[in-house]
Order: sequence, then C-alpha cells, then structure tokens
Amino acid sequence: MVQQRQAGIALVGSGSARPTVALTNEELSQVVDTSDEWIRTRTGIQQRCLLPAGGSLAELAATAGRAALEMAAVEATTVDLIILATSTPDDLFGSAAQVQAQLGATRAVAFDLTAACSGFVFALVTAAQFMRNGVYKTVLVIGADALSRWTDWTDRRTCVLFGDGAGAVVLQASDRDRLLGFELHSNGALNGCLNLPYEAQAEPLAAGKTVQKGTYQPITMNGKEVYRFAVKRVPEVIEKALFHADLTAADIQWLVLHQANQRILDAVADRLKVPSERVVSNMARYGNTSAASIPLALDEAVRDNRIQPGDIVASSGFGAGLTWGAAIFEWG
Ligand code: COA
Repeated sequence: MVQQRQAGIALVGSGSARPTVALTNEELSQVVDTSDEWIRTRTGIQQRCLLPAGGSLAELAATAGRAALEMAAVEATTVDLIILATSTPDDLFGSAAQVQAQLGATRAVAFDLTAACSGFVFALVTAAQFMRNGVYKTVLVIGADALSRWTDWTDRRTCVLFGDGAGAVVLQASDRDRLLGFELHSNGALNGCLNLPYEAQAEPLAAGKTVQKGTYQPITMNGKEVYRFAVKRVPEVIEKALFHADLTAADIQWLVLHQANQRILDAVADRLKVPSERVVSNMARYGNTSAASIPLALDEAVRDNRIQPGDIVASSGFGAGLTWGAAIFEWG
C-alpha cells in the first residue's frame, strides 16, 4: 500500500469519564488529619472521584474514548491507532489493547504510554508524528489514571491531592495542521521528587542466584520541590511551544493545564498574563487525575461551549519523571 503524506492533524472530538463515587474533603478529614479549609486554600480541591473496588481503568478509558468518537462522528472500526497514556494500568503489560477490544476498534493498533501527569501531552505529540508522516489517519488519544490505587491514605501530604478519571481526543488527518507547536522535556535527575517506586526483596531461586519479588510502593512526593519546578518550568515550556507555533502568550484563548493545584494554575496564568476567565479549571471537583486531567478539562470546556472551533488552546502537562511538555493547538 502506498502511504500518502498528509500535512497535519485536526482535533475533532473529545470525551471524558469519571467514577461515580466522590469523596469530599470533609469525608477525607475523617480518614487523615486534615481539613476542608486546608485542602481548599492550599490546592483548590473540594472533592475527588475514586474508582471503587472492582473498577477497571480500561473501562473508564473506553468510556471516555467512546464519547470522543461519538462527538467526532467517527466509527470505532475506522480508528488506526489508540494511545493510552496511563501510569496505573489494570495490567502492567498494558491496558490499551483492552480499550481497543472494548471499543470494537478492530483495525487499530493500541499501546500504552507512561509519562505520569505529562502523559496526555506526550501521547498527543506521539500520535501527531504517526499522522504527519502519513502512516495513520484516525487516532484516539486517551489519558486515564486511577492514582487512588497507589495513594497512601495515611499520608496527608499526598492523599488529599489525587483523584481518578479519563479523557480522550480524536485526531484526524487534515491538510491544515492544527497542532501548531510543541515542546517536551524530561529530567531524571529530579526523579526522587515524585515517585511510585518498585521495591524488590531478594528471593533465592537456585544456588547463588536470586530474583526480585516485590511490589510498587505508594506515591511519595516532595511537594515544595514539585511546586517550585512547576511554576518555573510550565510557563517556560509553553513559551517555547508558542515560539515554535509563531505565536505569543497574547494569542492564547484557553489555557488548559494539568490540574495539579489551583495555585500553580494561577501562577502560570499570571506569568503568561492570561486572564483567569481564560483558564480552564475543574480540579475543585476532580483533584489531580494525572494523565486524564488535561483531556477531562478540555472535554468539559468543549461540551459547555466555552472552547469553540478555531480557538487557540495552550496545554501543558508536568509531573513525575520529572517530565513536562506543552502543546499549542487549534480546536476543531
Ligand atoms: N492537611 C493539613 N495539614 C497539612 C496537610 C494536609 N493535607 N499536608 C501538609 N500539612 C501540613 C504540613 O505538615 C506542614 O505542617 P508543619 O508546618 O506543622 O510541618 C504544613 O501543612 C505546611 O506543609 P507544606 O508541605 O509546607 O505545605 P505547602 O504549602 O508546600 O503545600 C502542597 C503542600 C502539596 C499543597 C504543595 O506543596 C503543592 O501543591 N505542591 C505541588 C504538588 C503537586 O502538584 N504534585 C503533583 C504534580 S503532578
């Protein structure tokens, strides 16, 4: 088959899903020594949705994906590629193929991409490469996470922050490229600031030979370091992505950032001089949903008609790795 080169991509549909069970700050303060007042003022979070016992990440991701395909009026059988950005798969071998099967996207190849809270932006840019070289024409990018699975519910410094959810976008080949610019970064030297580490115990196997047997440990974080990193790096990476797009911060119509902390959103918006009514924020209801947070916020703003076709959106993900990135795109 001769593959025709297309110029670019268009973002033509969005969808999202959240577990039905919400835990308020008030309820959480019965579990750990915290208060609604502390959590609200330091983070902006009021409640988070939690995947219940028996809940499936793949199912949540598929629900978001299905909604995005419906908005785009795209049949699942025409999807070429599904990228699932997640750090909390049902299966360590990957959950994307489960999502593919649940959607009935029988032609699609599907794989997971792990980049923590930067996962959605990294997946969007990865998808764009397959499309710009003409290999794939219809791609579903999903960000889905259930960090509640790996939260230490006795650690008030972290457990108040996270929630579960999923969001998705449909990309279609287009003559005019609506992914206007991007910039991605990693710095493994700062890995220790935010971890979900595997901890191994030695298990004797044969004479003089051991293997590892262990499990992942709950999330640990140096909150102050991560905060400092985010308020410095996020405006910087957005400015670089804008430069690649031949735009400036004055051109941003919507700022859709990873929903980590309202104070981080405010600081970034301030630095870029984006007015607060142009900053999409839903963390009060969901907390930090990791790879899901950007497409979840985007989908809500598209569905309530804030974000209109043709609007310029600046998105940025940042978090564990450490990783950070920005993508500037025109919606629709
Ligand atoms: N409830 C009540 N008190 C709490 C608390 C909680 N949930 N968590 C911490 N505290 C206490 C601390 O014990 C400390 O008390 P002390 O002064 O008596 O020791 C005090 O509040 C201040 O703690 P500190 O860690 O300095 O707070 P902070 O102002 O840095 O805010 C974060 C903490 C986590 C909200 C903030 O650092 C942050 O948002 N960092 C970025 C985290 C993030 O976004 N991570 C994900 C990135 S993808």
